[in-house]
Amino acid sequence: MTGKKQLMKAIAIKDEALVPVEIPRPEPREGELLIRVRAAGVNRPDILQRQGLYPPPPGVTDIPGLEVAGIVEGTGARVCALLTGGGYAEYACAPSSQCLPIPEGMSFEEAAALPECVFTVWNNIFELGKFQPGETVLIHGGSSGIGTTAIQMVKAFGGRAIATAGSEDKCAACLSLGAVLAVNYKTQDFVQEILDFTDGRGVDIVLDMVGGDYVRRNLEILAEGGRHVSIAFLKEAKTEIVIPVIMKKRLTLTGSQLRSRPESEKAALATAILQHVWPRIERGEIRPLIHQIYPLAEAAQAHALLETGQHIGKIVLKV
Ligand SMILES: NC(=O)c1ccc[n+]([C@@H]2O[C@H](COP(=O)([O-])OP(=O)(O)OC[C@H]3O[C@@H](n4cnc5c(N)ncnc54)[C@H](OP(=O)(O)O)[C@@H]3O)[C@@H](O)[C@H]2O)c1
Repeated sequence: MTGKKQLMKAIAIKDEALVPVEIPRPEPREGELLIRVRAAGVNRPDILQRQGLYPPPPGVTDIPGLEVAGIVEGTGARVCALLTGGGYAEYACAPSSQCLPIPEGMSFEEAAALPECVFTVWNNIFELGKFQPGETVLIHGGSSGIGTTAIQMVKAFGGRAIATAGSEDKCAACLSLGAVLAVNYKTQDFVQEILDFTDGRGVDIVLDMVGGDYVRRNLEILAEGGRHVSIAFLKEAKTEIVIPVIMKKRLTLTGSQLRSRPESEKAALATAILQHVWPRIERGEIRPLIHQIYPLAEAAQAHALLETGQHIGKIVLKV
């Protein structure tokens, strides 16, 4: 033993670009597991981090990557894990409370595509949005990683998913995942289409990642007692809201950000997901849709593809 730290390959952010580096392997803190990463999910928040718009919380590695799948050093367990950062690397540390077993027969690449989306959708549609079986949920960005997961989860739990997406191919993908209606927002007015489809009643929950004028339009198509859940503002952070609409229909406006939540809250989410969602994943009712897999060294190409917005589902790095 030389006492020197073992090195690993990772992808770092330098001047808003992704560059391969060799850095010391991370060391697990108390309550954490060291995972030999086999695959890492790529998410839109990673792009924002690269652009300097979504810095890691204090004390967190600046290596990007919010989810991985791999093998736990020492035990050999196959897990996927939600991370606060550090996924684009050969090794990553995760609180054991945020590690979930990889369902039998599922590849590392598929498993790496699960945590960020499943945690986000569970927290926002099922917990904050108080989803009930039989309800109708509008999912904007239906072909995104989040959207493709949300459509399947709403369906698996006995709801009706309506999606919006920006092309006919993306709409077809949403329908094939189980959406009851997919609206191409570039050629159709989603408000009118959804009111027509629901005989004027509207939807119970909107999962919104667009913001801006979408919020006012979303409120128009929420049914009485409806819930509006914001997870991003791809178009615009500011919006104007017509207050009487909220009062008349007794609407709830809520939202959340996953990464900065305390470990205890993520652990509670993991427990609920293991109990309620994992059996449905194991039965194949919910399956990650992988658009493309890149080698870790080509993380920059993976980001370039995500930024074109042409993908349907998830992009994953193979380590
Ligand atoms: N709050 C949280 O905890 C949390 C956690 C994870 C992710 N998120 C957010 O959830 C969103 C989805 O994440 P993801 O990783 O699944 O990303 P993604 O696959 O890149 O999805 C973004 C989607 O938004 C659609 N979109 C609609 N309007 C858009 C616009 N004005 N600009 C760009 N895209 C637009 C895009 O497709 P079309 O326009 O073609 O339909 C695309 O499907 C991201 O905004 C991400 O930041 C939030």
